[in-house]
Amino acid sequence: MQFYAFVAPGLEEIAQREIAARLGAERQGQQRGVVFFATDAPPQALLSLGTTEDVFALVARGPVAAERAGLAQAGALVAESPLFAAAVGAQRRARPKRIKRITYRIVAQRRGQKHYARQEMRRALQQAIAWRFPRWKYVAEQALLEVWGLEAAGELLCGVRLSDQTMRHRTYKVAQVEASLRPTVARALVMLSEPEDGDVFLDPMCGAGTLLIERGLSGRYAQLLGGDIRSAAVAAARTNIGPRYKPIAVRQWDARDLPLGDGSVDRVVCNLPFGKKIGEPQALRSLYEGFAGEVVRVLRAGGVAVCLTSERTLLAEAFGAWPALYMERVYPVEVLGQRAFCCKLKKRADR
Ligand SMILES: C[S@@+](CC[C@H](N)C(=O)[O-])C[C@H]1O[C@@H](n2cnc3c(N)ncnc32)[C@H](O)[C@@H]1O
Repeated sequence: MQFYAFVAPGLEEIAQREIAARLGAERQGQQRGVVFFATDAPPQALLSLGTTEDVFALVARGPVAAERAGLAQAGALVAESPLFAAAVGAQRRARPKRIKRITYRIVAQRRGQKHYARQEMRRALQQAIAWRFPRWKYVAEQALLEVWGLEAAGELLCGVRLSDQTMRHRTYKVAQVEASLRPTVARALVMLSEPEDGDVFLDPMCGAGTLLIERGLSGRYAQLLGGDIRSAAVAAARTNIGPRYKPIAVRQWDARDLPLGDGSVDRVVCNLPFGKKIGEPQALRSLYEGFAGEVVRVLRAGGVAVCLTSERTLLAEAFGAWPALYMERVYPVEVLGQRAFCCKLKKRADR
């Protein structure tokens, strides 16, 4: 069966790795924000992926003109798709439900040139489906099936959605803090840190606790440690964590002066403050420098640190003062329309 998933742009490679590892899936290529794969795993298994925002069973993928002629081409691709019945079957197995009649809705998305409105694409797809499955009923809300059509770079991508909003938003984020990380991006950062069963895992600026929770959901560990300078953030993290993910400790602290021993941590993953809202450049520099010094100190030799920031140069300069750590790889990503970087650092084994 063929599937595709939406991911935060820049994290396609990491998502493909998770999909291959968890579903034994075969890669079928990728484009910006979308990964394609084939697997015989039960469709329900796709719902437990952590790095993907939404997963779909593929209905159709093919070239369409950017001009109005593209509407009829998109309709034909969907009406004649040999994959449609199997895609519906995958959705029914992923989310079994007793029903009298299949109801459906359509979500049409476009990127790029605007020769016609999104609504026109939706109508073209609706006509194709009404022709193909005359017994189905179109509804605006609460449909059993969601058929999504994305037109981008002269190609139509159409699929039946298997996931719902809990894949991208999760269910644990009860308490929110400003600049909280998307859980799927947090999971990708955790994966980049190469988690291992015996890890002591640290997020020194944990906000609402997203990274700690995603690490907790990613497999075994020895200890989760987190903290934040703001008491409101510590309270939010504790609420979101609840009684789960033990052993875990969340404290109010300054990431520039951590109450942790030298070499006591195996992995550090952190989403640093960045962007326009964050005060004076000089204050940010001093925060990054203090943070880097503490990461170098508490991380054990051979340990891994993964940092998300838009301040790539500032981060590189802050860690540049410490030869014990080297930058292994930088992944440019787009988080809610903002450009940022996932920076993976390693502490040399002999330090
Ligand atoms: C981008 S947010 C992290 C969001 C978090 N990853 C989440 O998903 O909710 C950065 C956090 O760093 C915290 N922070 C800023 N300066 C700090 C410091 N010196 N020590 C500890 N935390 C700090 C802020 O209070 C904020 O919660």
